[in-house]
Amino acid sequence: MSPLVSTIIAVVTSLNVLACAWLIWWTARRRPNEAAVGEVTDHVWDGDLRERNNPMPRWWLILFFLSILFCFVYFLLYPALGNYPGVLGWTNTGQYRQEMHAAREQYKPVYAAFAGRSVAELAKDRNALALGHSLFANNCTNCHGSDARGAVGFPNLTDNDWLYGGSPETITQTIEQGRSGVMPPLGAVLGPQGVDEVVAYVESLSGRSAPTAKVAAGAARFALCAGCHGPDGKGNQQIGAPNLTDDIWLYGGSDAAIRKTITEGRNGTMPSHAWLGEDRVRLLAAYVYSLSHSQ
Ligand code: HEC
Ligand code: HEC
Repeated sequence: MSPLVSTIIAVVTSLNVLACAWLIWWTARRRPNEAAVGEVTDHVWDGDLRERNNPMPRWWLILFFLSILFCFVYFLLYPALGNYPGVLGWTNTGQYRQEMHAAREQYKPVYAAFAGRSVAELAKDRNALALGHSLFANNCTNCHGSDARGAVGFPNLTDNDWLYGGSPETITQTIEQGRSGVMPPLGAVLGPQGVDEVVAYVESLSGRSAPTAKVAAGAARFALCAGCHGPDGKGNQQIGAPNLTDDIWLYGGSDAAIRKTITEGRNGTMPSHAWLGEDRVRLLAAYVYSLSHSQ
């Protein structure tokens, strides 16, 4: 925040509170022609409903003034006025770090029990899996679903079909470093007829019937795709290019979905979770591994 903005905010904030104080003082003041306390004023509603002059109780007024005083004490202690950091030096990120640190210390013994053990080993340990499951519920379900079966664009983690590979090492790497799939938009390169033909060929790869002539033309054009999806269309786990022959679809296998993928491209992103720390990542990898490997 620039010093000018900071000053404006500080002044406006303070004036606001002072204005409240003035407003209370001003409304509580006695007016020259005012009815005596407890007496009927000349305000009448509905013919017979009258108002009495009953000022706010003194204790109530005192509470008002105390809360105004509290404001200024608060302004002094905490960062409330523009850039002024407050006497206590409190920040929300500082508090967050402190709490995270405390939580890590508190749970250290829980994770220490699983330290130094391999993912495959942990995947057979009920306690490790229970912990992995709760970590998954906290960190992964909003994208992969609470049953880990995924959704359009978010892979199913239970089917032992992998974009990047399902070995303990690869799963660990995926969780720790994240992944980013790049399917380039090829609509402009292929043209409408080219897209038609390639869609037909892709559908034929997983055993669907499509017009033979189109499939043949699409097969010829598939050279454009083979660099990533492989000459046989079985994919490439190095770059997360999906297998197109297994009828398992990340973005949907309908004619329209395949067409959209090829025309507009796709860019699925799995964020890095290195910040969870090595212990938690290993437990998560064990849990994910266990989903498609029955013990
Ligand atoms: C913001 C959404 C998001 C979150 C949160 C997320 N993921 Fe992912 N994840 C994805 C996407 C999208 C992909 C597919 C990436 C691609 O298309 O290349 C993916 C891919 C994966 C893969 C690779 C699957 C394969 O077939 O190779 C694994 C394993 C995985 N996620 C596990 C996890 C775990 C464990 C967590 C929790 C720590 C998690 N993900 C959290 C979006 C997410
Ligand atoms: C530069 C490498 C690359 C090229 C070239 C490429 N793809 Fe892809 N393709 C990918 C990647 C990576 C993904 C996964 C995208 C993601 O994870 O978001 C993908 C996804 C797809 C999907 C979605 C699969 C699913 O399960 O939903 C289809 C269909 C597809 N590609 C077809 C093609 C066709 C047809 C061509 C050629 C015209 C082609 N791709 C060219 C890398 C490529």
